[in-house]
Amino acid sequence: MIDIHSHILSMVDDGSQSARQSIEMAKSAEEQGIRMMIATPHHKNGRYENTKTTIIEEVRRFNEVLKEQQIDLTILPGQEVRLYGEILDDYQKNEILTLNQSNYVLVEFPSDHVPSYASRLFYEMKLTGIQPVIAHPERNRAILERPDKLFDLVEQGVLAQVTASSMTGRFGKKIKNFAHQLVDHHLVHFIASDAHNASTRPNELQQAFQTIEEAFDLNLVYYFQENAEILVNDQTVFVEPPARIRMKKFLGIF
Ligand SMILES: [Fe+2]
Repeated sequence: MIDIHSHILSMVDDGSQSARQSIEMAKSAEEQGIRMMIATPHHKNGRYENTKTTIIEEVRRFNEVLKEQQIDLTILPGQEVRLYGEILDDYQKNEILTLNQSNYVLVEFPSDHVPSYASRLFYEMKLTGIQPVIAHPERNRAILERPDKLFDLVEQGVLAQVTASSMTGRFGKKIKNFAHQLVDHHLVHFIASDAHNASTRPNELQQAFQTIEEAFDLNLVYYFQENAEILVNDQTVFVEPPARIRMKKFLGIF
C-alpha cells in the first residue's frame, strides 16, 4: 500500500513532534502493509512554511533512520500547500514540492471556505502541467454545505483525496456520511492517512480500506490503491465521471 499524505517528519509542522514519534508512526504504517509514504508537511498555511529543498533533505535523513531501525518503509518527498494567489510564482521559484516530484500537487483549502479564485488558479495550474489534488474536501465546511462546489472543480479536472479517518468515523458521523457520499459519487480519487501522530490522529489507512470493502466493494479498494501507485509513478490516474450529490430537502412544518 502507498500512503500519499502524512505528517511523519518530526518538528516541521503540527504532525510528529519528535524523532521517536516519527518512528512510532513508521512502525504503525509498516504493520498495516504500507511500503511507501509521502511526507507532506504543511506549507504556507499561516503557521508553517516548509519549502522544497528543506523537505527533500529531511526525507533523506529520515529514510536513513528507518534503514537503521530496519523498518520496511520508504518515505517520499511531498508537501501540503495551502492554496494561495502566488502559488504558481513560488512553483517557478522552486519552493513548491509536488508529490514525489510528479505532476501532482496536494492542495489544502482553508477549513471553512473555498477561495473564490480556486477554479481559475486550478485552471492555470493545469495549463502549467500541474495536476491539483484537493486534500480532505470532506472536512471543508463550505463543501459540506454545498457539495456542488467540489463537483464543479472535479468536473473541471481537479482530483481530490479523502482522509482515511473520515471514512472510519473518527471525525464523527456527519463527516463519515459525507466522505462515503463523496466516494459513492466519484468525487474523490485517493484515500490517504493524513496521519499526524500515533495517538489522536493515527494512520487508519488499512481500516479505511476495510470500511470501503464493507460499505462498497473490493474493486473500489483496488481502484484507490492503484491510483496512489499511479500518482507516485507520475502516470495518469483513473477518473470516473463525477455525479452531483442531491441535498435532502428541508422537511419543516409550515
Ligand atoms: Fe495534512
